[in-house]
Amino acid sequence: MLNWDEFDSEDTTTAPAPAAATKAAPTQADREQEQQVAASIEQACNVDDADSAAIARAKAALDSLDVEEGLEELEGSAARVNVDAKQMINCRADLNQLVPFKYEWAWQKYLDGCSNHWMPQEVNMTADIALWKSNDGLTEDERRIVKRNLGFFSTADSLVANNLVLAVYRLITNPECRQYILRQAFEEAIHTHAYQYCIESLGMDEGEIFNMYHEIPSVAKKAAWGLKYTRSISDPTFNTGTVETDKELLRNLIAYYCVLEGVFFYCGFTQILSMGRRNKLTGVAEQFQYILRDESMHLNFGIDVINQIKIENPHLWDAAMKDEATQMILQGTQLEIEYARDTMPRGVLGMNAAMMEDYLKFIANRRLTQIGLKEEYPGTSNPFPWMSEIMDLKKEKNFFETRVIEYQTGGALSWD
Ligand SMILES: [Fe+2]
Ligand SMILES: [Fe+2]
Repeated sequence: MLNWDEFDSEDTTTAPAPAAATKAAPTQADREQEQQVAASIEQACNVDDADSAAIARAKAALDSLDVEEGLEELEGSAARVNVDAKQMINCRADLNQLVPFKYEWAWQKYLDGCSNHWMPQEVNMTADIALWKSNDGLTEDERRIVKRNLGFFSTADSLVANNLVLAVYRLITNPECRQYILRQAFEEAIHTHAYQYCIESLGMDEGEIFNMYHEIPSVAKKAAWGLKYTRSISDPTFNTGTVETDKELLRNLIAYYCVLEGVFFYCGFTQILSMGRRNKLTGVAEQFQYILRDESMHLNFGIDVINQIKIENPHLWDAAMKDEATQMILQGTQLEIEYARDTMPRGVLGMNAAMMEDYLKFIANRRLTQIGLKEEYPGTSNPFPWMSEIMDLKKEKNFFETRVIEYQTGGALSWD
């Protein structure tokens, strides 16, 4: 078994003393050391008689490597990064220098995301399989809810992941936010894995579930609405830097974080968690509970990014943009209300479409105020207070009764 402590102690005996925080002018000793390093690299690249033709070619290629030309490709300037130069969009500072942090909250969310790590296979699905296969375990209305939600979510998480990786990551010009976006992208992959795991465990028709976004109108409309906002910014030639293109990115962030992850997920989450509260499909419900915990952090991250872009670029947040953002959240809410009616043609699990409509209006008010807009459904109250309990933002960390299993750490790794 490897013990990393031993490696640490070896490292400390041979490693040079840490560099001082502020760089002093190079001394004679520094210059000599640099010359020694340069000489040893040159020596390593020199072809000697024992080298095979392949090794000789590899060394010759390194000999002709132009370091300056290679580094020109990197984004941003070559200077050490000053925290004031960091910006959420259109930043010119070097994006490969993670620190110093400007947005501590983004780094903290990255750490919180990592400490909430989980995997779908940890959830016991045995009771769910028996219930799903029994003839009288679930009503047709309950089965409809499970299928529709697995159909919608399996597509939606892929759309979110694609949007992050193919569009948003490139355009958010801040390394600590990019670090969180990478974590989020991995979590979206885990969510898609969780849906696949549920579909496979329950022995569902995979084609039917994964194709639902083409075949079921209430699912298709939500997917199409989201895709509309990713089309232009995922074009590799798209770039921010003008008022119009900066607004296009802002629209995308509002569509994905506030509407897709902030409204479109809430009917399904409520239905599946309500099922779990009634002791039905508790494995599926537990998977959704973990996903909801991740999603509430994605949503909060997105809201912080949107608000930071507004602070740094107040000219983008004009009356027209505010109206557009309000319209987007209202359209999303309307689509989610239609989805609630389609998934619950009758009362089921102690709820019905009218109650869900109230809940979605309550959620919409919250999304509007989170990005500084006024409520559009005044006086709406929350018919599902137990959902707020689960989503209480202060309980982001460890609000589950059961703990996720311990993960392998460096000290437990085996190279065998
Ligand atoms: Fe997700
Ligand atoms: Fe998400």
